[in-house]
Amino acid sequence: MTTLLYGAPAPGLVDIPPGATQVSPIVPGSADLAAIPDASIDHAVILAPGGVLERDYVLAQALRVLKPGASLLAFAPKDKGGSRLRKALEGFGCTVVEDARKHHRFCHAKRPAEPTGLDAAIAAGSPRLVPGLGAWSQPGVFSWDRLDPGSARLIGQLPTLSGHGADLGCGVGLLATRVLASPAVTSLACLDIDRRAVACAEHNLDDPRATVRWADVRQWDDSLVGLDFVVMNPPFHDGGTEDRELGVAFVRTAARMLRRGGVCWLVANRHLPYEAALAAAFETATVRDDAGGYKIIEARK
Ligand SMILES: C[S@@+](CC[C@H](N)C(=O)[O-])C[C@H]1O[C@@H](n2cnc3c(N)ncnc32)[C@H](O)[C@@H]1O
Repeated sequence: MTTLLYGAPAPGLVDIPPGATQVSPIVPGSADLAAIPDASIDHAVILAPGGVLERDYVLAQALRVLKPGASLLAFAPKDKGGSRLRKALEGFGCTVVEDARKHHRFCHAKRPAEPTGLDAAIAAGSPRLVPGLGAWSQPGVFSWDRLDPGSARLIGQLPTLSGHGADLGCGVGLLATRVLASPAVTSLACLDIDRRAVACAEHNLDDPRATVRWADVRQWDDSLVGLDFVVMNPPFHDGGTEDRELGVAFVRTAARMLRRGGVCWLVANRHLPYEAALAAAFETATVRDDAGGYKIIEARK
């Protein structure tokens, strides 16, 4: 029996058959749901994402790959889209049995013989050139259809950089595009945990100096060292929950990547306390701008 798993449910929340294939794009190494053939899967367990376009895309892809009559379990925290899941599945022609426990809604359905609206939901959630952004992006990717205000502030403060560098948590590559505008930049390694962002960044960074890698910065293997600079807008949410350790891990990885004297430019929401991590990993850390709820920091190793 072939089972797909989308996401990382809390232990004990649902039964996950052994050998299930992970298809969440934010698990490096996972399979691509969009590449799985139609009607080839026996069972799917989906921790549904909260964004409507992203959720409908994932549910439609799951219904596309399930064999007719195969079972689907879709669930989500009640306050993060769980209470709207049933309606979403009914919109695809599913008959849904719903239950609730541990603040989640669970929707059990069978793949109908003739689901409705799959193509439209898949088209609405697929990667595309977003006119307002001037770049490729996809619903579900961080700030998918607009430049993040924190990144905009960092872009406004960045000096002209040179040498070898990295962009940690590169997203679809908007910050990296700005960095690569400097001809003195000789290489830029761009890392992100989200396969969708990485695929878009590969489109957007059509530059031989850029390499894009699908990787978790927390588990970085130290294969990039001696860099002249790092730029980053570190995440502070993991699976929708604030996780300050995530940004701290980015600060530590940036310091490990840099040569002595190398510089890290980062933007952080004002309320995030990175000072201790910066002081431990860098020789100096200077706030270059503090406005609009964001701090721009230049840290030198
Ligand atoms: C605040 S966004 C910045 C995106 C992009 N640099 C920009 O300015 O638009 C943070 C990015 O970090 C990525 N990310 C989150 N956790 C990560 C991790 N553990 N390792 C690598 N990237 C991660 C997210 O997918 C997201 O694209």
